[in-house]
Amino acid sequence: MKNIQEDRLIWLDGKIVPLHEATINVLSPTSQFGANVFEGIRCYWNEEEGQLYAFRLAEHYKRLKNSMKIFQMEDKYPIDLLKQSLIDVVKANNYKEDIAVRQTVFIDGLGSWSSKGPVNMFVAPIAKHRSDLTMNKGMRCCVSSWERISDRNISPKVKVGANYINSRMAQIEALNNGYDSAIFMNNQGKVSEGPGSCIFIVRDGKLLTPPITASILESITRDTVLELAKEYLKIEVAERDIDRTELYVCDEIFLCGSAIEIAPVTNVDGIDISCAKPGDLTKAIHKIYIKAVTGKISAYKRWLTSIYA
Ligand SMILES: Cc1ncc(COP(=O)(O)O)c(C=O)c1O
Repeated sequence: MKNIQEDRLIWLDGKIVPLHEATINVLSPTSQFGANVFEGIRCYWNEEEGQLYAFRLAEHYKRLKNSMKIFQMEDKYPIDLLKQSLIDVVKANNYKEDIAVRQTVFIDGLGSWSSKGPVNMFVAPIAKHRSDLTMNKGMRCCVSSWERISDRNISPKVKVGANYINSRMAQIEALNNGYDSAIFMNNQGKVSEGPGSCIFIVRDGKLLTPPITASILESITRDTVLELAKEYLKIEVAERDIDRTELYVCDEIFLCGSAIEIAPVTNVDGIDISCAKPGDLTKAIHKIYIKAVTGKISAYKRWLTSIYA
């Protein structure tokens, strides 16, 4: 594993520099108020092809631009530049393993929390191997006592740094109480999502997930799972409101996200789900997801961008 922390190269303001030179002004609105929007993008190494594949860049950049629009930041980065900066910095680090890339557009300068600019960007890759531990063991979650932020106060659709205070409160509460993570309810009292992931449940063979109006991030992994389940595995899927008690009586639950991938939840609020083991459908979706992201299903190569020419 290369470039674990300190010796990484970072793209900042058009230059590729060592991590210790990638510094930001302490008085900028990004460091004072979390005034930044970002994407967490995965790239997967395909050993047979000797290729590193970035996953669903078009969808990540569409969401990044939507975040900038809602957050009202100057949008000065064309898609080609967003993409090229990621490719250049990953290549500069010569990664030949699974990685995660943090691409952040932030408010620089000496303004306040309402400044729209000046806008700057960094792109920071890091080695991140797949964790089969969560897949084998499953997670114990609680329903959080914290409510998910909503579109009427701080929209969960904007992937802005400051939104993660809400996730932080839920995650810390869960860990303090001996759980692995949390599940949020929204202001309508319906199941929303995890602190950094979306949620799916299985009831009577049908895959269910809250709609995009349920105070969730419009997750790229959620969209990927819906497509793989419907089109590849031919499973019936529905986007509908989910009640808290459905979590207790459903057959399977999993969280999903670029970072967590597909993570089974085997206990909620002390109640076992699927006999406290990852369910069969969750395992099938995990298997197909990993094949798709690593370029092993030709139909889904359209989601991948080759890093090395
Ligand atoms: C709150 C929240 N929900 C869902 C997700 C999953 O989104 P994606 O699948 O696009 O990574 C994330 C990922 O960062 C998140 O922070």
